[in-house]
Amino acid sequence: METMSAIHCFSAKAYDRACFDEANRGPGHDITYLDARLDERTVGLAAGIPVVCAFVNDDLTAPILRALAAGGTTCVAMRCAGYNNVDLDAARAVGITVVRVPAYSPNAVAEHTLALILGLNRNVHRAYNRVRDRNFSLEGLVGFDLAGRTAGIVGTGQIGAIVARLLWHFRCTVVASDPQPDSGLVDLGVEYVELDELLGRSDIVSLNCPLTEATHHLIDAAAIGRMRRGVMLVNTGRGPLIDTPAAIDGLKSGQLGSLALDVYEEEAPLFFEDRSQEILDDDVFARLLTFPNVLITAHQAFLTRDALAAIATTTLANVADVVAGRPCANSLT
Ligand code: NAI
Repeated sequence: METMSAIHCFSAKAYDRACFDEANRGPGHDITYLDARLDERTVGLAAGIPVVCAFVNDDLTAPILRALAAGGTTCVAMRCAGYNNVDLDAARAVGITVVRVPAYSPNAVAEHTLALILGLNRNVHRAYNRVRDRNFSLEGLVGFDLAGRTAGIVGTGQIGAIVARLLWHFRCTVVASDPQPDSGLVDLGVEYVELDELLGRSDIVSLNCPLTEATHHLIDAAAIGRMRRGVMLVNTGRGPLIDTPAAIDGLKSGQLGSLALDVYEEEAPLFFEDRSQEILDDDVFARLLTFPNVLITAHQAFLTRDALAAIATTTLANVADVVAGRPCANSLT
């Protein structure tokens, strides 16, 4: 019999509840779903709860982790792969075990990356609106063939490797940069090069590396300046990989031909909520929305039924390990 635990699940949406309830049929944890994002105002809701389940934009900085520990929380279960929003040193210092879901469906994120590339290139986002408005003009909708173009993948881990393979199947020349090259991709014909060379050669640049101190603003004004004029830049990694004002300057000058984002560096106060009745007070994001050649989705690359089911199952298995005192392969601490 598995050890059951009380779990407070922050930033919980209807799709989270459905998948966690399904995955919890066997384990029978006592899960409370909270709409609220975890931050300094809401951390008190976890008082007395041993396990907190959190997501990409929950605040897991040192003060929040200290408050969680003071309230008796011993495990933070991230229901995502990235953990740049968690201060792991602070977690260790207060004795909180942090677990995550390193691989739930790299296909989901890679396929969304392709959806953005294909949709943006062929202006599907604009064509959809035009046709609904019975505007059947094709002016301004000209795209390019992917076949024969060069795609540069920055980070060929689980997700980037699939993006590389998908683009290879579209008959792109694929170049990549990663301190740990993937031998399977090399066998396929993917060429590993330094970032600067990748930027200089690519017609499409896809960011699939994690956010770390080293990759923060990896794509800044200087990097954009090194790219081919008219390049398509795609970010499904993490928002701060791109210096957004520099990208806006690149779009204004035409150096960036188009930009697709599933993540945005200041997404935390915006994404995952219906804000259609609110005044948008992020002027940088507002400027991005004015470009016809910018396609933004609100951090939905992971959002497939398959990925959600895998996230829930692995998260609850991680929690069971931690609560039972077993070593957990997905522990970060
Ligand atoms: P992974 O850990 O399998 O692969 C990351 C790769 O990036 C590794 O091969 C690593 O060597 C490489 N890398 C590290 N620093 C680099 C650098 N400076 N330049 C080039 N490559 C570098 O991670 P995975 O599963 O492929 O995920 C990648 C990222 O995608 C995650 O860290 C996360 O931020 C993001 N992600 C986004 C999602 C979304 O819904 N938009 C969902 C899941 C992940």
